[in-house]
Amino acid sequence: MSEETLSNLSTETRSFEPPAELAAAANVKADAYAAADADRLAFWAEQAGRLDWAEPFTQVLDWSNAPFAKWFVGGKLNIAHNCVDRHVEAGRGDQVALHFVGEPGDTRDITYAQLKDEVSRAANALEELGIEPGDRVAIYLPMIPEAVIAMLACARVGATHTVVFGGFSADALASRIADCNAKLVITADGGYRRGAPSALKPAVDEALVKIDNDNTAIVENVLVVRRTGQDVAWNGDIDVWWHEVVDESSEIHEAKAFDAEHPLFVMYSSGTTGKPKGILHTTGGYLVGTAYTHHAVFDLKPETDVYWCTADVGWITGHSYIVYGPLANGVTQVLYEGTPDSPHKGRWWEIIEKYKVTLFYTAPTAIRTFMKWGRSIPDGFDLSSLRLLGSVGEPINPEAYMWYRDVIGGDRCPIVDTWWQTETGMMMISPLPGVTAGKPGSAMTALPGVGADVVDEAGVPVPNGSGGYLVLTEPWPSMLRTLMGDDERFVDTYWSRFKEQGYYFAGDGAKKDEDGAIWLLGRVDDVMNISGHRLSTTEIESALVSHPRVAEAAVVGAADETTGQAIVAYVILREGALAEATQGEELVAELRNHVAKEIGAIAKPRSIMLVPELPKTRSGKIMRRLLKDVAENRVVGDTTTLADSNVMDLIAAGAKTST
Ligand code: WTA
Repeated sequence: MSEETLSNLSTETRSFEPPAELAAAANVKADAYAAADADRLAFWAEQAGRLDWAEPFTQVLDWSNAPFAKWFVGGKLNIAHNCVDRHVEAGRGDQVALHFVGEPGDTRDITYAQLKDEVSRAANALEELGIEPGDRVAIYLPMIPEAVIAMLACARVGATHTVVFGGFSADALASRIADCNAKLVITADGGYRRGAPSALKPAVDEALVKIDNDNTAIVENVLVVRRTGQDVAWNGDIDVWWHEVVDESSEIHEAKAFDAEHPLFVMYSSGTTGKPKGILHTTGGYLVGTAYTHHAVFDLKPETDVYWCTADVGWITGHSYIVYGPLANGVTQVLYEGTPDSPHKGRWWEIIEKYKVTLFYTAPTAIRTFMKWGRSIPDGFDLSSLRLLGSVGEPINPEAYMWYRDVIGGDRCPIVDTWWQTETGMMMISPLPGVTAGKPGSAMTALPGVGADVVDEAGVPVPNGSGGYLVLTEPWPSMLRTLMGDDERFVDTYWSRFKEQGYYFAGDGAKKDEDGAIWLLGRVDDVMNISGHRLSTTEIESALVSHPRVAEAAVVGAADETTGQAIVAYVILREGALAEATQGEELVAELRNHVAKEIGAIAKPRSIMLVPELPKTRSGKIMRRLLKDVAENRVVGDTTTLADSNVMDLIAAGAKTST
């Protein structure tokens, strides 16, 4: 983050006390911090009491083989029982679990009793298809109830799911299926996006062909939900319709208990190298962490609140705060399939008005988009049901915070700015809505039971008023256990930087203000944050270089008003490539589509500049900092370490003519 932004942040002095009424009735009060500090493990053991355990644990944390953690050792439980069955057993079967809203306007209310039947049917179907505990299942679905049901059914039978975001390409899907050796893929014919059906099954078909060619085939079946009714190619050997096998299965299914450390899911996330990391989460600690934080940070009152998290289940936010945490807490929530502007730009606000949503969780990139569209759109709806707003995915800039607070929250709702990661599984740094006075742009302090600090290069905590690296100082229940099949990379990536101190290195820059509140400053590695989605520069460079016309590529994340960062690529063509191409513009369009094909539409560069050279140090390292200056229209910084100092003049001149 630039110096300018840093100084802007340090002049931010506004702060908003919790509303008195909310504070008085808050689920979690200020004493939670002291209780957790006094005995952190006893605190987490108490939180574990929110769940039904089939067998109690004998030890809260086994850290003897750090950084490989075991939480709630010896405990056994079933996640689906905890998220569904027990609410029905407690007499809450008629409560709505999901208010589903399809993009075309179709709706479905699913009660906990109905969800129990659906999940049980799906679990029976998975077992009939030969899925056993420990098997991997890939899920590639739109935001429809079956996505939630499929995840819970996997958890119920002890299969490990990997949900692949529906916006990812066939190639990205193939590499994930192959990496985790999925035995089953659950998909749909398609889903609705921006007013039209968008196909999914063809990408699965293509992915399987690719995997077959690579001789890594272990996918035995593809289970297909009919959503859009569009035509699909059908392979009778492996394809089965959901409505045929699931709907025909019995709604009675016994949920067996699994060990607290049984693998629950793998979520692939971008790292600093090209290959995505398979982040592994397990059963007991993950559910304790997500259920507690959802209860504490959203001040959830399951009997009266209506909750809505706008994330996709293909991301960690959807896993932790649509599926597992909220359902473990017995929430009533909205599940929306589509985009915010279909069929009109007030769609989200219309949904809030209709379902009287009280707790709303979204991302800064969405808020900035709504700011651009203007307040007259949300002003046209009754948003008075809202009582609390949440933000996640990237730092929320103070302007966006104030707009969110004022226009959406009617100046009465507290905002919880929640910092966490795919790796942490649960929120780590966030205000408690009934306790903390929120400052626009700060995630404030570590939650009770969580240890976070900002340290310098040497791992020494910086004094208030200074910046450094964000670290997590204590293990936490929903921490990632490892990277699938790569313990060494797990240790290297997160635990080697501050090995001596035993700190987890988050990869984020941060600053402590004079009161000790934490301000996140963005990634310190080569990971970009595009609309709250993590993509690595290397990953996109590799995709570009895989195009036959590209010799070399450098990618930077440039500040972008709406998406936070935007992808800007600098490409050197192979000799003669430009002469072959009729026009540079056409080639640029082709390269953008190529990246979309390799990774997915979210990875499409905002702009691609065709350049004769890239700025490199004498040791050959690309100086992305300089390219970022060009991308952000700044005067180019210090070029004295460049091997060839003329390069930047050439690039800057080219950039002016090509954007
Ligand atoms: C960033 C998403 C500032 C951060 C849950 C982190 C944030 C990365 C915030 C993780 C926030 C997330 N303030 N930055 N409230 N929330 N980030 O794995 O850089 O998709 O490391 O998890 O997003 O992204 P991931």
